[in-house]
Amino acid sequence: MQPMIRLTCTAALIALGSTALTGAGASAQERRPSADEAQMRAERTLAQMTQDEKVQLIHGTMAVVVPKPRRPRDMPMGAGVIAGVERLGIPPQYATDASLGISNIMDMRKGDVATALPSGLSLASTWNPALLRAGGRMIGSEALAKGFNVMLAGGVNLVRDPRAGRNFEYLGEDPLLGGVLVGAQIEGIQSNGIIATIKHFALNNQETGRATASVNMGEAAMRESDLLAFQIGIERGDPGSVMCSYNKVGGIYACENSFMLNDVLRRDWGFKGYVMSDWGAVHSTEALLAGLDQQSGETVDAKRWLSTELRPKLADGRIPAAALDTAVKRILWAIYAKELDKTPLGPKPIDYAKNAEVALQAAREGTVLLRNEGALLPLAKTVRSVVVIGGKANLGVPSGGGSSQVVPVGGFRVIEKLSDGAAAVFSRRAWGGSVPLAALQGALGGVQVTYLDGSDAQAAAVAAKAADVAIVFATKFSTEAEDQADLVLDGAQDALIDMVASANPRTVVVLETGNPVAMPWLGKVPVVLSAWYSGQRGADAIADIIAGTVNPSGRLPVTFPASVAQLPNPKLPGADLPPPSKEDKIRYGVNTNSPPFNITYPEGSDAGYRWFDRTGQKPLFAFGHGLSYTMFRYSRLKVKGGRTLRASFTVTNTGGREGADVPQVYVTLPGKARRLVGWDKPMLKRGESRTITVMADPRLLADFDMPSQRWVVKPGKVKVELARSATEPVLSTQATLSAQKLKP
Ligand code: BGC
Repeated sequence: MQPMIRLTCTAALIALGSTALTGAGASAQERRPSADEAQMRAERTLAQMTQDEKVQLIHGTMAVVVPKPRRPRDMPMGAGVIAGVERLGIPPQYATDASLGISNIMDMRKGDVATALPSGLSLASTWNPALLRAGGRMIGSEALAKGFNVMLAGGVNLVRDPRAGRNFEYLGEDPLLGGVLVGAQIEGIQSNGIIATIKHFALNNQETGRATASVNMGEAAMRESDLLAFQIGIERGDPGSVMCSYNKVGGIYACENSFMLNDVLRRDWGFKGYVMSDWGAVHSTEALLAGLDQQSGETVDAKRWLSTELRPKLADGRIPAAALDTAVKRILWAIYAKELDKTPLGPKPIDYAKNAEVALQAAREGTVLLRNEGALLPLAKTVRSVVVIGGKANLGVPSGGGSSQVVPVGGFRVIEKLSDGAAAVFSRRAWGGSVPLAALQGALGGVQVTYLDGSDAQAAAVAAKAADVAIVFATKFSTEAEDQADLVLDGAQDALIDMVASANPRTVVVLETGNPVAMPWLGKVPVVLSAWYSGQRGADAIADIIAGTVNPSGRLPVTFPASVAQLPNPKLPGADLPPPSKEDKIRYGVNTNSPPFNITYPEGSDAGYRWFDRTGQKPLFAFGHGLSYTMFRYSRLKVKGGRTLRASFTVTNTGGREGADVPQVYVTLPGKARRLVGWDKPMLKRGESRTITVMADPRLLADFDMPSQRWVVKPGKVKVELARSATEPVLSTQATLSAQKLKP
């Protein structure tokens, strides 16, 4: 087994007992100019700029629409371009998507590839910030080598509905887990001397109505959930940029929402960088006054709000010159603070073989063993024949669609045309990367491994019966711009699995999905592995786990509900609306996929497992769940209360082999749902014990109090649990907290 990347400092928990941080970025960050130095430089440069130069910095187009003769020689074909000001040494900003690798969807040149990391939900399943940091450093280095200096990466919208199309890009349903992981990813990306962008700010939790819907949620609920994920991510990662989202929050577009951009982000959180708009998310020039600094993808907005429309308003004073200066200063601040001016642009060779190792390690730790009845996995030496069924497992692993999609090294082997849904324009249903069939043949040396595509369930059942073990690869496509109708696997795969498992009780299902799915066949299937979209080396990771050369250590970052009836919104908001009218499309822009409507989330701040806890419902698989080939015992849970909460405990590997565990600490405040306050991921040899100490972030022990605009920790007793998942506490005790008020 490859040595795992170790972490020391997880979450709001500081794992005092662990070793030194091995991730990237720290040393590069130490050499960075201070915030004040960057500010002084920004002011000096601003003083030398003409108004045209200033305007130039606050708007940009998509690279593909820059006419060939006007394309600077060094301009890569990515998502966006902001021209620089050469005479002042201000570099151009060349932006690329996204968090899973360098998305080349906009690149019409044939043959461009990049290292494809596993999807966000897979990365989050690692519960390993050091891996996110290493992944961020890797994709950031590829961005730079391809000529980009701005990455549109760190997506951290919380999963509120397992049908939402972009969940696969994000980092799960918990604000602490998501915030810690995105912070590490951003830190890794920016260690290359480029800017990372945390997105989509905020409450852009579904695709239906992404351009038209208003999310209406109380401020306290927002601050305790989605906003907290961003807050933690920004504190830890210090991104140069924040991308405001398409949707409205409380009736006001996120990109012109002064409460979100000026009050929360800047006044309360002290964010010093700039706010860029999502592509097509700007609706007015006045957005500049509400905290937007850059119209980044103006090509898809109705008007050039921050250039053509802005100039006359500057001329007659309807928009004060100071507003332009403020926006420019923030952009310059990020350029200097992240050292874009010192980072040479231009093509550099990429060591794809080395980078693939990062993708492999991420996929190994991001694959979750959900069920392993009778310890069928790892496959025993006595297994002589395996039939692999379905999922195009002879061609590659699937990826999610939309702006984050990465054409992996080796290219896609199959691309299926989508029907005419909203996503059809720019989304591809495609398979590439390592090939499960070949990987299994390699990993299970000596075993006969054959393949059937699964289109004939009867034939699959016959083959399954004849083999020692059947492995079904089951897929569900997820994409930006569209949500899913339900939790059902695509096509007739449920029936296929049912028939295969009925024919051979030794059936393994490998889920390759962008979201949790329902499993009507679960009672018949002893083994389920959730591999998500596993990235370029995903098949190798899956084969390693099935063969047992890697001990699984992934844990779910989202709840798998038993059915949609358990969800706060059993019907996806907006799903039953008619298609948008022509007028809607004109009014709301190219991303319009529904008429306007309001979204309310009955769970409020209790997204995901907290909703299940609050309503006493039993999910199919709980947040935090994941099995190992070894066993871990928890003992000696001790807690110390007061102004914060400190928990220490011992984890012992009592099983037969080395493995990593993810002990999780949850706190329950009186009358509230369980909240994750920390975790660690110790790698333990057989028989080895480790004492772990964690400290809770006081915001997780508090409620956001509206009248005082403070996080308020109430004095008194709280329950503290050391758990294997959100529904499997092992040890429980109480701590007494003292009263505390904290700044927002
Ligand atoms: C997506 C963003 C992306 C942008 C640029 C938009 O459609 O929502 O996440 O960064 O396009 O490609």
